[in-house]
Amino acid sequence: HLNHPANVAVIGRGYVGLGTAGLLAHIGHTVTGIDIDEEKIAMLRQGHVPIHEPGLDDLLASQVERLTWTTDYSAVRDADVIFICVGTPPGLDGTPDLQYVVSAAASIARHLNSHSQIIVNKSTVPIGTGDYVQRLLEDHTPSFDPSRHFVVSNPEFLREGTALGDSLYPDRIVLGGQPQALDLMTQLYAPLIDQSFTAPTVAPRPEWFTRPAVVKTSLQSAEMIKYAANAFLALKISFANEISGLCERVGADIEEVAAGIGMDQRIGQRFLQAGLGWGGSCFGKDTQGLISAGREHQYDMPILQAAIDVNYRQRRVVIDKLLRHLKTVKGKRVSILGMAFKPNTDDLRDAPTHDLIVQLNRLGASVTAHDPIAMNRAAREWSHLSYTPAATVEEAFERADAIILATEWDEYINLDWNTLLATTRRPLVIDARNIIRRPINAQVEQVGRDA
Ligand code: UGA
Repeated sequence: HLNHPANVAVIGRGYVGLGTAGLLAHIGHTVTGIDIDEEKIAMLRQGHVPIHEPGLDDLLASQVERLTWTTDYSAVRDADVIFICVGTPPGLDGTPDLQYVVSAAASIARHLNSHSQIIVNKSTVPIGTGDYVQRLLEDHTPSFDPSRHFVVSNPEFLREGTALGDSLYPDRIVLGGQPQALDLMTQLYAPLIDQSFTAPTVAPRPEWFTRPAVVKTSLQSAEMIKYAANAFLALKISFANEISGLCERVGADIEEVAAGIGMDQRIGQRFLQAGLGWGGSCFGKDTQGLISAGREHQYDMPILQAAIDVNYRQRRVVIDKLLRHLKTVKGKRVSILGMAFKPNTDDLRDAPTHDLIVQLNRLGASVTAHDPIAMNRAAREWSHLSYTPAATVEEAFERADAIILATEWDEYINLDWNTLLATTRRPLVIDARNIIRRPINAQVEQVGRDA
C-alpha cells in the first residue's frame, strides 16, 4: 500500500524531470526535485525555471509548498517512489549515453532504506536498462531486497511546448515491471487516472478528454513501447514527406492527401504534416537507438533507416527549391524565419534550420535568421555557423533575396506578409511548413503542393 500523499523524489531538471515534479505535486504528492547542478537548483529555489516550457513556471510556482529542490541525494531515503528523469544524450556512435542514468542509480543506491521503495525509469533508455539499473542497485545497496525494492519503467510521452497538457491529460500511462510495484504506481497516479484534481488554469482539461488508459507490461515491453511510439510517429512524418515529393511531381496536393488518408481511423490525422521533417532531441535519437539495438542482435531495421534518410533529405529539398528560383545563392541574402526545431520551444537540438544554415554557408549565401525566443540560445550553441541574427522580423525581410519559413510559429503565421515583402529585394518565400494559406505578393514555394 502506498501512502497518500506519497513522498516522491524526482532526479533531473530537464523537460521530463520538471514536468514530472510539477505534475506529481499538482496531483497532491510531496515532491523533492534533485539534481547535481547547483546553479540550476539555486535558480529553481528562487522560482526561476531553467527551460522554456509554456505554463511550467506558473505550475511550479503554484506548488511551492509541496515541492522542494536540492542537490542532496539523501532525500532519496524518505522517498516512497524515486523517479530517474536524467538525460540520455546520443553518444558518438548515435547510441544513447547512459552515464547520467548510471550515476543517478549509483547515488540512489547509497540512500535506499529498508522500507518498500520503487525506482522508476522515466528517461528514454535502451531496452534492457531497467534490468541493468536493478543490477546496479543490487550491487551498490547492501540491504537491497527484491521483495521491497522495485524497478519500474514508466516512459514519458510529453512533447516539448505542450508538456503540461500532455502530462496531465495523457492517452495512456505505461507501467512496466513486477505486478506488485505496478499496483503501487497505479495508486501514485490515482488522481491522474481518475482525473480527480483541479485542472490548472495554465493547462485546462480539453473537452474531449476523459481519462488515461493504464497499460501494465513487462519492463522490456514498456521500454520498447516508448521507442516504438516515437519511431512510428517519426515514420508517419517521413511517409508524408515522401508522398509530398511525388505529389509535387504529379500535381497532387499533400495537404488534401494527408487530410483524405487521415480520416481513415486506422491511419489518423495527426503527424502527417509534410514540410521540413522532424527535429528535436527525440525522434532522431530514438529511431537511431532502435537501429543500434537491432544491430546488436544482427537484425536490420530497413523501415526505420528509410524514415531517417527521408527526413534528412527533406532539408536538402528545401535548398533545391530555393536554387530553382535563384539559380545561385552566392552573395545573396537569404533570411530564415524560425530556428527552434518546432514552435513554442527554444530547443535547437537537431533543428532543421541548423542544417539549412550549414548548406547555405557552403553555397556562399549571406544568411540572416530570426526566432521569437531561440536567438539567445543560438548565439551560444550555434557559434560555429555563419549567420546574422535579425533582432526583428522586419529586419529579416529587409533587402532579402529569399525568405525561408522553417518553423511555424504563430507569430509568423499572423505576419502582415505583404507589407514586409515590399521591403525585400525579391519577394520569394520558401514556405517549408506550408503555413501560408492565402495569396500574398510573392512567389511562394511550398512542400508537396502548389501554393
Ligand atoms: C516527441 C513525441 O511527440 C513525444 O510523444 C515524446 O514524448 C517526445 O518526442 C520524447 O520522446 O521526449 P517532441 O520531440 O517534443 O516530442 O516534439 P513533436 O511535437 O513530436 O515534434 C517533433 C518534430 O516533428 C518537430 O520538429 C515537428 O516540426 C515535426 N513534425 C511533427 C512534423 O514535421 N510533422 C508533423 O506532422 C508533426
